[in-house]
Amino acid sequence: MPNKKSTTKKSTVRKSVEQRTAKKSTATSPAFRVRQSAIHGRGVFAVKKIRKGARLVEYKGERITWEEAERRYPKDPVPYHTFLFEVGDGSQCLDAVRRGSSAKWINHACKPNCEAEEDEDERVFIVARRDIAEGEELTYDYNLTFEERISKAEQKRRYPCWCGAKKCRGTMLGLKK
Ligand SMILES: C[S@@+](CC[C@H](N)C(=O)[O-])C[C@H]1O[C@@H](n2cnc3c(N)ncnc32)[C@H](O)[C@@H]1O
Ligand SMILES: [Zn+2]
Repeated sequence: MPNKKSTTKKSTVRKSVEQRTAKKSTATSPAFRVRQSAIHGRGVFAVKKIRKGARLVEYKGERITWEEAERRYPKDPVPYHTFLFEVGDGSQCLDAVRRGSSAKWINHACKPNCEAEEDEDERVFIVARRDIAEGEELTYDYNLTFEERISKAEQKRRYPCWCGAKKCRGTMLGLKK
């Protein structure tokens, strides 16, 4: 009973070996792990079958304004490489470089198997869009937005997509500006 102050003697609340073992065997093991990806750098891969609709991981990070993000990453350590996720009314983002979770390693794909959902508290969760087989890389559509007007060729040069989908857009930028 972790939230209550207990007056029970220590010896009476100690778990038996059986209870401890039973707890271990029923604990859920993670559904994914981070490893090298063929799309880009590190990626996140299913280590068991994942059902459509499963909420897999929260995209965590320090919540900051875009002004602060630009101050921190004027051109990013690698140009146009980002661990930022836009939230709320669009004036803020989560900086996964600080206090991030493993969701920060999930790559973009144009035909993804996951999607990012923001709840009413403006927390972002990565959810399976379909059943995912063991070994598949988890992806979602970054649908990046970019203020400046640049040509299609420049979009592809700055934000290339290497997801390998048949109908790959060629860029991680979204369809709409
Ligand atoms: C949040 S990180 C994802 C983890 C990344 N693979 C890594 O090892 O750092 C996002 C960055 O990964 C790269 N990336 C993700 N998906 C990509 C894709 N489909 N094609 C090309 N680069 C991608 C881009 O540089 C992007 O800004
Ligand atoms: Zn693509």
